Amino acid sequence: RSDGAADHYEITQRAAAVEILPGLQTEIWGYDGRFPGPTIESRRGRRTVVTHRNTLAVPTVVHLHGGKTPAEHDGYPTDVIRPGGAAKEYVYPLDQPAATLWYHDHRMDFTGPQVYRGLAGFHLVRDDEEEALPLPKGEREIPLLIGDRAFAADGSLRYPALDPALRDRPGVEEAYRDGVLGDVILVNGAPWPRMAVSAARYRLRFLNGSNARRYRLALDPPPPSGPAFVQIGSDAGLLPAPAGHARIDIAPAERFDVVVDFSAYPVGTKVRLANEFGEGNLSHVMRFDVVRKAADDSRVPSRLVAAEPVSRRDAVANRKFLFGRGVGGHGEHRQAMWTVNGKPFDTRRADARVRLGTTEVWRIIADVHHPVHLHLAHFQILSRNGRGPRATDRGWKDTIDLGGSEVAEILVRFTGYRGRYVMHCHNLEHEDMMMMSNFDVV
Ligand code: C2O
Ligand code: CU
Ligand code: CU
Repeated sequence: RSDGAADHYEITQRAAAVEILPGLQTEIWGYDGRFPGPTIESRRGRRTVVTHRNTLAVPTVVHLHGGKTPAEHDGYPTDVIRPGGAAKEYVYPLDQPAATLWYHDHRMDFTGPQVYRGLAGFHLVRDDEEEALPLPKGEREIPLLIGDRAFAADGSLRYPALDPALRDRPGVEEAYRDGVLGDVILVNGAPWPRMAVSAARYRLRFLNGSNARRYRLALDPPPPSGPAFVQIGSDAGLLPAPAGHARIDIAPAERFDVVVDFSAYPVGTKVRLANEFGEGNLSHVMRFDVVRKAADDSRVPSRLVAAEPVSRRDAVANRKFLFGRGVGGHGEHRQAMWTVNGKPFDTRRADARVRLGTTEVWRIIADVHHPVHLHLAHFQILSRNGRGPRATDRGWKDTIDLGGSEVAEILVRFTGYRGRYVMHCHNLEHEDMMMMSNFDVV
């Protein structure tokens, strides 16, 4: 529904039985009972109002990941929608460039299991600048949510730490601590799907919606000529110029907007989207079958959007955040947790106060692999381990994939709104185990 001021959506969060594995029913928790949830599309600068009704048996929180959203609508972890039919209206100004955003659950301590059960969906932002570009559109523009899950023999989702039958088995605690992995790869909710494509360019918007798994995406066979992926966009929008990659590492919550030219392959070729980080079934994500020749008037221009000049010299402050193991709780409740600067998350404590409209350099240090995400603020990656960024680091980001013992410098621009926002590890089990910190924009 649209009126003069805004586009309105209504979403019911509910349990539903769906067929994911052939012949079996899986109970999911989905937006409108679907996984992924319905894709929302917005125009830059036009208000989108989404009313979420929670009919699940647990509290929920909705966060628009990548959105520049006023704090009261950002989905702060304790700002819950009560179970049993309560509703909340989330108002998104979306005064930001065209980008692949996504919405997902963000409930304090329970984000991992709730997203695992299906509470995630795409929210695309479009604008005139993007629309004027001759990129592939319509049925040749495809958002792909990649996520791994584990299933019990009866088809139900298996989330080890919550399953009493599994909780006491050896290795389960470690599996939870390091992030929950599955042995089935789903793309848009289907296991290892196949898709018939024309010998033409396609725009694929990759989103890693996994709780903890990273992928190294590649095409198998690689195209006989040209790069496998022409990256046109990153987390927060289009790049100034396209960049070719043979492979793309994608950590939880990252997005890569790429064009793949299937006309580089002879008709009849089956092109696997492979995961070079995985073995066996986990080395395969999906398959594109090039089934027909087709007209194609799309192209990837050498200039996409105007570059916004930002430089390290603009930074008014430097800060350091160490994402690592630590201890939290008191007395006999002290236990190992994941922390930021040695401290577990506390809603009452802000670890940084930044001024609206300023730019800062943050050094982020990781003990083991952590994909670090900031709400509200987008950033550019300046360096990794004292050297330049990766080829796939360019553009405005909201999530940075950090390897073990890695140090990165990011240039963060705090535009948008004042208020308390979180940054956290997007390994959702790490997030739930307190690897989260507040920053206040004042
Ligand atoms: Cu996608 Cu705070 O999260
Ligand atoms: Cu976010
Ligand atoms: Cu982590």
